[in-house]
Amino acid sequence: MNAPESAVLHTPARPMPHVLNTYGRLPLALSHGQGCWVWDTNGKKYLDGLGGIAVNTLGHNHPRLVPALQEQIAKLIHSSNYYEVPLQEQLAARLCELSGLAGAFFCSTGLEANEAALKIARKFGHDKGIHRPEIIVYEGAFHGRSIATLSATANPKVQAGFGPLVEGFVRVPLNDLAAVEEVARSNPNVVAVFLETIQGEGGIHPSRWEYLQGLRALCDRQGWLMMLDEVQCGIGRTGKWFAHQWAGIVPDVMPLAKGLGSGVPIGAVVAGPKAANIFQPGNHGTTFGGNPLAMRAGVETLRIMEEDGVMANAAAVGKRLSDGLKQALEGVPGVVEVRGAGLMIGIELDRPCGVILQRAADAGLMLSVTADRVIRLVPPLILSADEAAQIVAILAPLICTFLSEPVAAA
Ligand SMILES: Cc1ncc(COP(=O)(O)O)c(C=O)c1O
Repeated sequence: MNAPESAVLHTPARPMPHVLNTYGRLPLALSHGQGCWVWDTNGKKYLDGLGGIAVNTLGHNHPRLVPALQEQIAKLIHSSNYYEVPLQEQLAARLCELSGLAGAFFCSTGLEANEAALKIARKFGHDKGIHRPEIIVYEGAFHGRSIATLSATANPKVQAGFGPLVEGFVRVPLNDLAAVEEVARSNPNVVAVFLETIQGEGGIHPSRWEYLQGLRALCDRQGWLMMLDEVQCGIGRTGKWFAHQWAGIVPDVMPLAKGLGSGVPIGAVVAGPKAANIFQPGNHGTTFGGNPLAMRAGVETLRIMEEDGVMANAAAVGKRLSDGLKQALEGVPGVVEVRGAGLMIGIELDRPCGVILQRAADAGLMLSVTADRVIRLVPPLILSADEAAQIVAILAPLICTFLSEPVAAA
């Protein structure tokens, strides 16, 4: 978990004194998993409502993914981008087919995918003769923790202590097209808009579909790139391959990561015709990006998702989970809203609720708390209806008990 945008935990001592102190961690370590279940080193079993923060698309120890990865490891883990990597072409072609875009660059994390997107936008500007290109970013956004992506992020806790921030960003509220139109009128240096289709770390805030359609039209009128960060909400999580597909639009640039490799580190920036030829040899690169192991993980993840109808499952089980939570929490004072799409669900409370993390773990459920007061569920996309019912049965009473306590206990 990313501690500052999730709950800050207070563990009594540091059990890993040689590891830099960047995370507030629960005092437990996982040893293995099977499907949507994980076990800690003491043998305690947990239902995985977190999926490694929207990463373990196919759950744990998947019977077809694991042998494919074992075979790949025995053949070739890493070569180099000095040479052709046929699996890169295979995965890129599939991502283009699924998204309607034209080409992909591979890296290893979400922030790297976003860095590549930001560089594409800046060079797009320079190529048009805009020498101080600016990018529209959003209140509530989270794009990563490199200096550029934390500058694009809106969370002051993520930025504190790391100034000076990277310049060239203009911030607007989400779902307010008039605010973007105002920037269009007043700022001739804008080259792109950059937003999460559904904000994740900011507390599960979806862009409205009409907003995305309006933004797409505005980007076309202005000659801007529309860049949608689908690092958390992409790869089937909402019941379509990419969340923006619910709005019937196609972006120009789409960073991906997290769920694409089912746990093997991978990132990608997928670009449409306006953006796909901006990088030329020497403009961008990374040692690990696109290595055969990560590419195989991506290819097999997408293949298994399609063969097993995993997206339809995410949509159907996601609806059951969110309906179940809404029903169980209806009228409970202190529950602000249950929202999200597919298996990306946030339960907003009226107070900080970081303690729920430990209480849920004690009760055998993995989840996260983000934006201080939003309980987030992003389980593996193979979650069954029965497992969804078990999440509701564990979580709803925990929330009710928590909300019945004096506020100071939060
Ligand atoms: C929408 C979004 N973008 C980017 C990132 C950063 O990804 P990574 O942690 O792999 O760098 C995250 C991580 O939570 C994210 O949710």
